[in-house]
Formats: sequence, C-alpha cells, structure tokens
Amino acid sequence: MKNEDKVVVLDFGGQYKELIARTVRELGVYSEILPGNTTASRLKEIAPKAIILTGGPYSVYDETSPKMDAEVLQLGIPVLGICYGMQLVCHTLGGRVEAAETGEYGTVRTTVVKDSLLFKEVNAGDVLMSHSDRVVRLPEGFVVTSQTADCPIASAENVDKNIYLVQFHPEVNRTRYGKKMIANFLFAVSGAKKGYSVRKVLQRQQQLIRSRVGNDTVILGLSGGVDSSVTAAVLEKAVPGQVVCIFVDHGLMRKNEGDEIEQAFKGKNLRFVRVNAQQRFLEKLKGVTDPECKRKIIGAEFVKVFEEESSKYGECFLAQGTIYPDVIESGANNSAVIKSHHNVGGLPKETRFKGIVEPLRGFFKDEVRKLGRMLDLPAKLVNRQPFPGPGLAVRCIGEITEEKLEILREADYIFNTELAAAKVHSDQSFCVLTPIKTVGVMGDYRTYDYVVALRAVLTNDFMTCEAQEIPYKVVRKVTSRIVNEVKGISRVVLDVTGKPPATIEWE
Ligand code: XMP
Repeated sequence: MKNEDKVVVLDFGGQYKELIARTVRELGVYSEILPGNTTASRLKEIAPKAIILTGGPYSVYDETSPKMDAEVLQLGIPVLGICYGMQLVCHTLGGRVEAAETGEYGTVRTTVVKDSLLFKEVNAGDVLMSHSDRVVRLPEGFVVTSQTADCPIASAENVDKNIYLVQFHPEVNRTRYGKKMIANFLFAVSGAKKGYSVRKVLQRQQQLIRSRVGNDTVILGLSGGVDSSVTAAVLEKAVPGQVVCIFVDHGLMRKNEGDEIEQAFKGKNLRFVRVNAQQRFLEKLKGVTDPECKRKIIGAEFVKVFEEESSKYGECFLAQGTIYPDVIESGANNSAVIKSHHNVGGLPKETRFKGIVEPLRGFFKDEVRKLGRMLDLPAKLVNRQPFPGPGLAVRCIGEITEEKLEILREADYIFNTELAAAKVHSDQSFCVLTPIKTVGVMGDYRTYDYVVALRAVLTNDFMTCEAQEIPYKVVRKVTSRIVNEVKGISRVVLDVTGKPPATIEWE
C-alpha cells in the first residue's frame, strides 16, 4: 500500500473497531487496525494520513485500562477520538473525565453548538451513545461542538492541533450521519485521497503470488466455506493451472453440499480433488458421544487425510484462507498467523511446504464476499452462513450414525428451504437432531422416533446472539413438513435461547 493514503485505527478494545476500519475502506481509504499502545515512533514510520482512536469498555482511571503514547497527539497527524478514545485524549492532555450520574445508552438527539468541519453538510442529528464515564472538563485549547440533554460535551475539537473528539459512535448505522462525519474527518479535516479499492488490492495480491510461487504448485484445503472458496478463486486467477484444491468430504456436510462445492469449481483452471473419506470418519466416530472427543477425532482425521493427499504433490506451497479479522483477533497484527483448516484440526506440518500463501490476509469478511462475487463464484457459496468445521457432527447429539445424519440432513433442508421461501433472514439457521426418542402417532400406528430442534439466530459477531423470531405460520409449516416427510422424526421443538447463556451450536 505504498504511496497511498492510509488510516490507522488504534484499538482500545472497542467492539466496533472493525466497523470503523471497514467504513474507512468503504470510503476509499486503506485502513489498518493496530494496538492502542502503538508508539509515536512506529506511527511516524507508517505515516498515516489520519489516526482514529476506538472506544472501549474501560474507565481511564482503571489501573489496567489501555493507555496511549501521549506523543502520538504531538505528531501533527489528525486524530479522531471516539468514546473511550475521546476520554483518553482528554485525560492525557489534562482534561477531566468522570463517571456520569446517569449513563447514556441508545439513540440520542444532539445539538450542534459550533460550526465544525466534522459536521460539514450534516446536522449531528441522532447519534448512538453508549457510555457511563464522560468528559466534564476539556483540555486547554479545546471547544465544545455539540451537546445532548445528558451530555454537555458530546463532541469537541482543537482545530490547531487537528484533534477531533466524539463521545458518540459515528461508525454505527444508528448514528444517522455517522458515515458522513467519518468522511468529513478523512477528506475535509485530514485531506486524505481516495485510492483504495478491493479490485486494486486483489490485482496487487495476484502479482505478489505469481512472483512468489513461480511455477510451483499451490495446495489448498477447500472446505466450501466463504474464505477457502474465495482463496481458491483468487489463486486460480493468479496462477492458473498450478492450484490443487483438496476437498475432504468427511460425510458431515448438509444435503447436496459436497456436490454443490464440486460443481462450483468444475471447469475452473485448477485441480479439484474430492477425497471421499466418509466411511473413515464414521468408523472413527463409532460409539463416541462426548462432544469434545468428536471434535478431536474429526480434527485429527482431517489432518491425516489432508496429509496423505497433499503429500502426493511433492514440494509445493500451502495456501490458507486467513482473513484480516483472524489476524487482528490473534492479537498479532504484524506477525505470521496461521488459521487452522476451518478449525477442524491442526495444520499439516508446514515445514514440508515451501511457504504459506494467504491471499485474503488483508481483507475483511464483506470484502472477501465482494471478491467472491467479482470472481464469479456462485451466490450460494459467497453468501454461505458459517458452518462449523466438524459439520453435522456437532448438530447430531450423541452417537453419530449414517442413518441419523440422513434424518438430520433432510430436516435441515426443509427448514432452510421454508425460511428462504418465507424470506425470513437469519444469520445462522439449522436443525439439531436430539438423541431423545418420543412416542408419536402416524395414521393407526404408534411411532417412537427422534425429536428435532429448530435453531435460527440473529447476530453480528457470533459471540452473542438472539433467537430469530420466526412467524408461527412458518414454524407450523416446517413442523408439518418435517414430521410428514422425514422418516424417523416424531416431534419438532423450537430453540429460542439467546447466547449467552446458550451457545449457538448445541455441542
Ligand atoms: P457457538 O456454538 O460457540 O458458535 O456459539 C459460534 C459460531 O462458531 C461456529 N462454530 C464453529 N466454527 N469450527 C468452526 O469453524 C468449529 O468447530 C465451530 N464450532 C462452532 C458456530 O457455527 C457459530 O457460527
């Protein structure tokens, strides 16, 4: 990203850090997330056009709260401090922060009290506030620019020092003109130039891959998830004919999924190897009921199968579907991070490979999906919901058998087909086959069959979720179809538990 304007987002633990960095990129400027305590001298080397300080769940007076290098504020680089970032700047420069009598949470009306470049062509309007501490005295040289009923200093600035502070969150949709405020900070305050686009970075990445890999083969473990699928598509264009995608079919995929994955890569200029290892996995899982044991067995077997298959290709490179949030979450923004194969297990011994290639390492998930669309991957693959590495094994409670997997596949297919037909959007939706059998009645016969649970959740980050409200009409139709069409199920129940306390998956 040489010669292009960039923005550094300093992370103080705020849940919206990725949203800030993504918004900056959407506005056409490259952004990177670095730890909050990144030193001024490091930032001088990076020479960003602007710095944004994120929010965070701390109080500046906590001993353990993240601190910043005060010198950063003397570099002359424009700074935007958000929420905790605002409080930290004020605290660092001699202002005063206090716990407010009433915290402010939710959408609040703001009044602009001084013209500010940040509010150019917008009113501050409705903003999302989420804080208990607040700034009660600004450092010297700062003036208030907006207020709310409960927060007399909702934003402030020191134009001479190029420091802008907002107690609210401009990065979220609920701040009506938030994106415009960030654009104002980038372009009107910092004079940044647009230069970033996913397409441009993709082209550069592909050149880098070409020069690194030369004529060697690149091997990729392809699970059919978004990250590995897009990695395959990027590699195919970068080094056509040199890519080997190994798809380990462990038999724990959903209905038709293995075939759909194979179909998506048919006709592409790469070698697609489907290893039909279903029986191997089933054999290993026989009699196993403990969820952790199941995961471990599947992980170990996956690595074994992948090793066996990949060793047929001699000296080659290994590709990984690591994406930018994996790099950030590992806390090692600058060091090598290796994502395990969709958490299925470990990695094959990397030393065996000439090197690791990670074409998506700099991209956010929505950018990865955009790449997938640009590279003509089927919409179903690009928009795929997360699916656990151990697949249906963690959705088939207790011992796994081929018969139970088949029942689960059919029920799951009906559920998701009906949700799609009713246009009910959820971030993850699936069936869980419980080991409980209950009595039912079918015509003149008593039955004694399994109970299946429906689970559909709404979530932004998969760390927390709430149950999706499915119209009762849809639940009834799904239930009726499942008990009538899927042999082996006598009863359907609905899981409406949020996370916490429940997890999204049952195992
Ligand atoms: P939980 O069940 O912990 O799941 O609330 C959170 C998210 O992670 C997915 N998940 C997995 N993904 N390998 C994965 O790649 C796994 O072993 C795994 N287990 C859970 C889950 O589907 C949800 O999206």
